Amino acid sequence: MTVSQEFSFESQKYIELRADGFSLPSPEMRDAMYRAEVGNDGFGEDPSVNKLEEMSAEIFQKESATFVSSGSMGNLISLLAYCKESDSAIIGNNSHTYNREFNRDQSQKQSLPQILGIQPQAVKTDRRGMLDVEEINGFITHVISDRKPRVMIVENTHNLAGGKVLNINDMDTLHNVVTKSNIPIHLDGARIFNASIALDISPEKLTEKTDSVLFCLSKGLGAPVGSLVVGSQDFISEVKEWKKILSGSMKQAGVIAAAGIVALKNYETSIRNDHQLAKYLEKRLLELEKVRVEPVETNLVYLELDVDDPFKISEKLKQKRINAGPYHSDKRWRLVPHYGLTKNDIDYFIDTLYTLIN
Ligand SMILES: Cc1ncc(COP(=O)(O)O)c(C=O)c1O
Repeated sequence: MTVSQEFSFESQKYIELRADGFSLPSPEMRDAMYRAEVGNDGFGEDPSVNKLEEMSAEIFQKESATFVSSGSMGNLISLLAYCKESDSAIIGNNSHTYNREFNRDQSQKQSLPQILGIQPQAVKTDRRGMLDVEEINGFITHVISDRKPRVMIVENTHNLAGGKVLNINDMDTLHNVVTKSNIPIHLDGARIFNASIALDISPEKLTEKTDSVLFCLSKGLGAPVGSLVVGSQDFISEVKEWKKILSGSMKQAGVIAAAGIVALKNYETSIRNDHQLAKYLEKRLLELEKVRVEPVETNLVYLELDVDDPFKISEKLKQKRINAGPYHSDKRWRLVPHYGLTKNDIDYFIDTLYTLIN
């Protein structure tokens, strides 16, 4: 009996709508993990990790790639590779990196980039996740001499903008603003494959003007663990040094890389399914009176409920075996269809929500 025959989705007891990071590995991924050829990745000798890194570099047509444990780790070590102490990074004020990695809330502990002396230059971001060009220009032309911007971070698709997509013209515009000052672009492409599928453009073309890309295997791609950073040979060597310093080195990581290889082979079909399901969810939500749903472009569906206590609705949904609710402490909800969910699950969610809000 193979691993895939033993496995069943019966084990997933809840309809899970909170994040794409809840998808369970497919039977094909589990088989690949079971059979993975492994070695010591710390010595660069894990064949499965090496294959995954080669495939990733090839997809984005960059020179090199490195496998890391998470999206946050990939963004952080990229930032550290670009900046030295007292440098700054241009970054969207609504981005994941600014809000989660540079901590805006002074009452909380400082983030690592700030401990290391890297300052964020936060730029206004519009409703599509596009950075304000005038503000970027302002930061570049009025540089405080000891706070030189060494990198600009762009997010595509943009989570808090509702999974919106920046197209090639947007990417060109951003490139034109920074290139004359030799400022590289790092793309937080945690969901770049969603953007590429939504635009019907290859990931390579969409990221042609970016110097490095972080993408996640463990979100829309459905793998259990991991992300990759891709870029030039020199840049990736530096990123690997930071990975080691921050205790990010792994050993027989081929076990998880094997699932990533399957994810990269199958992503087109699986992401198209997620987008169709997100559109279906949007359509069903539009039927409900007390729901204001934002236009859906990819796999993220944001909405607000016209009810007194949206948190209570979320608790009641949980009693009905549905995990869905406000995104962090915001009253805005984020729902994310992913591998393993079906139209029937969406219908059950809509019917349940309808009875709870009426
Ligand atoms: C746009 C974006 N970038 C990076 C990350 C961080 O990824 P991870 O959760 O793997 O650290 C997230 C996580 O939600 C994200 O939405």
